[in-house]
Amino acid sequence: MNDLMTLSQKADALEEQMARELDYIVVKSRLYQLAEGDMGPPTNPAEARKKNPNARVLMGDDPRLPAMPEAPTLMDFFKYRFGPSMHLLQSARHAVKGGLPEKMVLACLLHDISTAGFIRGDHGYWGAQLVEPYVDPEVTWAIRAHQVLRFYPDESVGYEYPQSYITGFGEDYRPDQYIQDDYKRMRDHKWYMSGRMITVHDIYSFDPNVHVELEEFEDVIGRNFKQPEEGLGFDNSPVAHMWRAMIRPAKYL
Ligand SMILES: [Fe+2]
Ligand SMILES: [Fe+2]
Repeated sequence: MNDLMTLSQKADALEEQMARELDYIVVKSRLYQLAEGDMGPPTNPAEARKKNPNARVLMGDDPRLPAMPEAPTLMDFFKYRFGPSMHLLQSARHAVKGGLPEKMVLACLLHDISTAGFIRGDHGYWGAQLVEPYVDPEVTWAIRAHQVLRFYPDESVGYEYPQSYITGFGEDYRPDQYIQDDYKRMRDHKWYMSGRMITVHDIYSFDPNVHVELEEFEDVIGRNFKQPEEGLGFDNSPVAHMWRAMIRPAKYL
């Protein structure tokens, strides 16, 4: 394996190697298969076992991923599971410079954690749900709203429709109906401006030389994110399984 391989290429190459040498069969989730356009049946463990009769499907820790502490904190997820998070760190610092209250700095820090660690489509909704038991309701609301509000300009705060959306989705793109409906509801909500503030600080045109460390926000997280003692994923909260899915993303069952 060389340094030019992407993480997912490395993962694929390792899967092959794992079944042969490490006695693991990795069966990708249905979601992954759908996203890859493969509508066929999932990897058949019995077939895969022909290469190595001792191989088992993955039910424990994933040997491809860094080990997680027994009671993982939000900071641990940033360090060991989330993809590159410089965008989140820079958004949070931008929010600090803009004089936003601390809980909104946290909202900016967490606004894209779903794309960073869980799932892209509807990331505002998923991200809000991930953090809901641990943050102020306004933070949850704002994270959910930012994804919707990004599609709609607001001159009062100098927010324009993103150029990157025109490039990425095309000139003719129109948000899905449920986004349009949610926009109407969100526009009239008492926390509209909190969701809007995330879009204002959700910027992609940073100086690439600006580096922000997660530790800069350790105190903000400490004061505004109710870290469960048992660790995220093990606190019996309604979203614990979602955090566990990030700890062991390829668990067979
Ligand atoms: Fe976002
Ligand atoms: Fe963002």
